[in-house]
Amino acid sequence: MSKNIYLTTAIPYVNGAPHIGHTLDYLLADTYSRYQKQKGSSVRFQAGTDEHGNKIYKKATENGVKVEEYVAENSQKFRDFIQRLGVEYTDFIRTTDQDHERRVQEIWQKLAPHIYKDSYEGWYCEGCERFVTENEYEENEGVCPDHQKPYEKLEEENYYLRIADFKDQIKAAIEKDEIKILPEFRKKEMLKLLEDTPDVSISRPKKQLTWGVPVPGDDTQVMYVWMDALANYITVLGYPDNDISDFWPASVQIVGKDILRFHSIIWPAMLLGLGLPLPKVLLSHGFVLTNGAKMSKSLGNVVEPNEVLDKYGLPAFRYYFLRHADTFADADFTWEKYDAAYNNELANDLGNLVQRLATLCKKSNIVGLYDYVSPDDSTYDAIMSDLYFSKAFDYVWGNIQALNKRIDDEKPWVLVKEGKSEQAVKVLTGLVKSLLDIATMLAPFLPDTAEKIKAIFTAEAIAPPKSPLFPKNK
Ligand code: MSP
Repeated sequence: MSKNIYLTTAIPYVNGAPHIGHTLDYLLADTYSRYQKQKGSSVRFQAGTDEHGNKIYKKATENGVKVEEYVAENSQKFRDFIQRLGVEYTDFIRTTDQDHERRVQEIWQKLAPHIYKDSYEGWYCEGCERFVTENEYEENEGVCPDHQKPYEKLEEENYYLRIADFKDQIKAAIEKDEIKILPEFRKKEMLKLLEDTPDVSISRPKKQLTWGVPVPGDDTQVMYVWMDALANYITVLGYPDNDISDFWPASVQIVGKDILRFHSIIWPAMLLGLGLPLPKVLLSHGFVLTNGAKMSKSLGNVVEPNEVLDKYGLPAFRYYFLRHADTFADADFTWEKYDAAYNNELANDLGNLVQRLATLCKKSNIVGLYDYVSPDDSTYDAIMSDLYFSKAFDYVWGNIQALNKRIDDEKPWVLVKEGKSEQAVKVLTGLVKSLLDIATMLAPFLPDTAEKIKAIFTAEAIAPPKSPLFPKNK
């Protein structure tokens, strides 16, 4: 029976071009989407760009460009980027889309019973686009650790979403894994945060923020960018114009660890206020660092993704970030590690395996297994259902290494030399089957490579590719 799966990714701010830190959301979602499609599910997969807020408005002004043009240009860069990553998304939303803006205003109106106006004085970080508590302000000595900028003091009249109305329900949902938070250790962290969260300001006075969705019925106020942005996950499905129950609640919402808090508190509160079900899983991944440090323009260590893609092509890029970035921990990117992964693993372990086995098959005239269907692998399926993608990829790689070893042990070339051709055919066919099983499990991670392997070993006559899958010394 076909299942409907809805996967979402965080929508990046368009205050610049994509960097390698932005890849994880897309690659993780794409891997799961391809896996689910292999299993016969229908997948809807949203991506998009978060285009409102002062941070973006200021950047456009600094660049001397009209904000509409600035966001359109950067949004396109993200679209091109995900295209280049081979990501099969189904929907792309821009928060400046007219339909989105109108729908967010309708959402606001539906939430009205939980919204009130009050004045506020507090510390704000524009990089994070959020108010911090007095405690946080003191702990960080007045400077945001993520953005290295002093907090600003804001005194304003704002609208508030009464989080208190939903706290108990959200708490119970997280505790009972009705919203499953991954990794597990973040669950406690989110429950603690929830407990400490006051009602959330969801608007800014227009004199402070002009670049945003106007609050319906009050032309002095503009919506808080997170309220507008979080709503994208349902407006993209057509809410509230359409019945979204075919794809909502989301199966998995993928976000970075820094923004899990918004998805565990404000987002569930909004959904409960709208009478909508809560997402089934919130998966938060770690950060990509370079040489162990956070990437930042001021440190000059921002890695340009196109440069990485240009070096060895897409499979190497997907390989590195899906296997060497542990799904639930921070990962490090350095060119040395990237070169080593390419040469020692992709080229040696996998590229040589394909070349070697295809050459042996050719010598013995082995016919490709054109109608072979791989059986399910229960270990792999179990890890995939835990959404522990890097671990599943490790498992696949373990099978690649084991197959290399099996060839060494079974020595089909000796059987050929001794004239035991029947036995050689049997051994080689067994090895080909195992490689095709590997290709099936590899496909969600490295779709093009898996396709190539399948083409070689299901062809009428197996022969090695003219150039190896992962040529060395490029
Ligand atoms: N606009 C918000 C998200 C709104 S979702 C309703 C935002 N944008 S962002 O551009 O700052 O981040 C987009 C995604 O990229 C987030 O999931 C974030 O965690 C992720 N990453 C940004 N830098 C990252 C790294 N260096 N490493 C890994 N992921 C990081 O937050």
